Amino acid sequence: MRKPMMAGNWKMNNTVAEAVVLTQELSNRYTDAWADRADVVICPPFVDLKPAKTVLEFDKTRIAIGAQDVYWEPKGAFTGEISVPMIKEIGCTYCIVGHSERRELFGETNEDVNRKAKALIAGGLAPIVCVGESLAVRDEGTTNEYVCAQVRAAFAGIDATDAKVCVVAYEPIWAIGTGRTATPEQAEAVCAAIRATLAELYGADVSEAMRVLYGGSMNPGNVEGLMAQPNIDGGLVGGASLDATSFAELVKACL
Ligand code: 13P
Repeated sequence: MRKPMMAGNWKMNNTVAEAVVLTQELSNRYTDAWADRADVVICPPFVDLKPAKTVLEFDKTRIAIGAQDVYWEPKGAFTGEISVPMIKEIGCTYCIVGHSERRELFGETNEDVNRKAKALIAGGLAPIVCVGESLAVRDEGTTNEYVCAQVRAAFAGIDATDAKVCVVAYEPIWAIGTGRTATPEQAEAVCAAIRATLAELYGADVSEAMRVLYGGSMNPGNVEGLMAQPNIDGGLVGGASLDATSFAELVKACL
């Protein structure tokens, strides 16, 4: 009943020239089933958004584009930042917020994530809200509490109608870029806890309609087991999204 989603987070990879090549390679592998049966999204760096969108538009390829971050003010003296209207004009329909790399390396707080999510919703874009625990939290045995608190904070002051368009991505920090994937059972347990939290906040109908993704070393070898879980609706993929063949295989696992 939920449409699966496969989203590629390119992180800080690909110059414009490289982005055009990768987008074209993806477009060459695209079939209408991708868009009919899943939402396929690529999230390139800011400077690559327009060139990637141009390739997709030229080919009439129904792959959506999203940014990896955004600032919550619409314009003004915020050197180095990028606003919702800027990414919207390019054609972004999604934007990642609260990725663990932004939280850990750039000091992004739960409050910042909440402001960004609200700004995106106000601009008509769908936030992909990232949550996830460190290895220390997992070892302590408080993963569900920690992750669900991040969900509550990200969605503070957002009503059910707006929440429904949002996507949550569960990304255990210890599984990101490490080759150490969460087992399907570990990932499912947290994704189920996230959905239960969304049900508390918004009721069962809304929580059943919202997509919860898994991210962290997802690849063609482990995607089937993860996608088989009832509360995992797709993936937010780093490394394996940088190769067109492997990303296409991940998309196929959603169809
Ligand atoms: P990897 O797939 O490279 O582990 O990255 C996951 C991620 O952080 C996606 O946002």
